[in-house]
Amino acid sequence: MESTFQWNAKTKVEFLKKLPSRERMAESLGFKPEKFVVIYDKRLAKHEGFAKWIGDFTMAYPVGAGERLKEVVDLPSHLKKLMKIMGPFSSKSLALVSVGGGSVGDFAGFVASVLKRGVPFIQIPSTLLAAMDSAHGGKTALNMGEVKNQIGTFYPADSVMIVKSLFEGLPALQLQSAGGELAKMALLEGGTLYDKFKAALRLDFETIWNLLPEAIEAKYKVVERDPFEKNGERQMLNLGHSLGHALESYYGLAHGVAVGQGLIFAAQWSAHQGYWRDPREALELLQGSAGFLPAKEFVKKHRAMSRSKLSRYISEDKKLTDTRHLTFVFLEGVGKPFRKVVTLESFLTETQRQGWTYV
Ligand SMILES: NC(=O)c1ccc[n+]([C@@H]2O[C@H](COP(=O)([O-])OP(=O)(O)OC[C@H]3O[C@@H](n4cnc5c(N)ncnc54)[C@H](O)[C@@H]3O)[C@@H](O)[C@H]2O)c1
Ligand SMILES: [Zn+2]
Repeated sequence: MESTFQWNAKTKVEFLKKLPSRERMAESLGFKPEKFVVIYDKRLAKHEGFAKWIGDFTMAYPVGAGERLKEVVDLPSHLKKLMKIMGPFSSKSLALVSVGGGSVGDFAGFVASVLKRGVPFIQIPSTLLAAMDSAHGGKTALNMGEVKNQIGTFYPADSVMIVKSLFEGLPALQLQSAGGELAKMALLEGGTLYDKFKAALRLDFETIWNLLPEAIEAKYKVVERDPFEKNGERQMLNLGHSLGHALESYYGLAHGVAVGQGLIFAAQWSAHQGYWRDPREALELLQGSAGFLPAKEFVKKHRAMSRSKLSRYISEDKKLTDTRHLTFVFLEGVGKPFRKVVTLESFLTETQRQGWTYV
């Protein structure tokens, strides 16, 4: 499958079999930059096809993937090194290319948005989570210590090139992580995406790959209603993320795995509040083919979190509307999300009820 979609005014999304040549990238951008600068996950050097491809670029900057890469304190030193590699350039003569997962894309996107106040930017996601979610919608992000995504810009890539060969040999954990975001989009969107998610016996690579275009389209639909997160529509994409982000930080979970756990929490709370009459089918899917665990089983394997620790994580998260309230995304059913401001106290009490926290 090789195909191109123009899903919004800015970003072109392309599905390719192999890594693109300079000419192919120029074609995607609609002009030929003098320089392509590639920021890439150094782990990819082990990937045969990638190693050959990157060898053609003299301006390449390998980085270690992960939250540390997004640390704001390290930005000046990265910029200095990048500037040295790039030499003199104008904002029109250079295009920045990111090859990696969400951490590399968030970092490179931020860099692209501030270099000379913005240079052309191509994302080539190398994890399915990035291909499905983080490469789209224009959010770039850096962390301040343990607190994620506090610094960022809106800077949609000009082009997202999704290259099938890059995903060869992706570890099982990464498939599950992509499964978490896929489950989120299926629960938000409902319709055929949910039906196909439901029909999947296992979230293996081919299943996720085949559902990618529809999941991406569902994300752009939400993003286009609220590109700069101004009217609340885009907050729907935070389904499963309030608790998810805290679990990601506390347990060091892969992002999508934490989100999958957060979806179970959101579904259970929606039911407990009487908003969702019967979430059983969705819960069975989350705990079945998607492989996430009921809270009590999860904490038996790991350890529970104190209520005060969770309170700190949530207080530092951007979703707080003031010191005592947060906006939470509930579900009235599949494809029926809604936002509601809740007290931090009620959120914490619910985490305790479900078994995530202790006093
Ligand atoms: N900007 C957004 O809208 C948005 C949305 C969701 C998540 N995010 C961010 O994305 C990040 C999580 O994404 P991620 O899991 O892709 O992160 P990641 O970049 O940390 O990648 C996860 C791991 O996979 C490895 N990896 C990358 N490509 C691989 C490949 N082809 N084969 C084998 N291993 C490979 C990496 O080296 C790393 O160890 C978080 O920082 C999160 O905050 C951003
Ligand atoms: Zn997410």
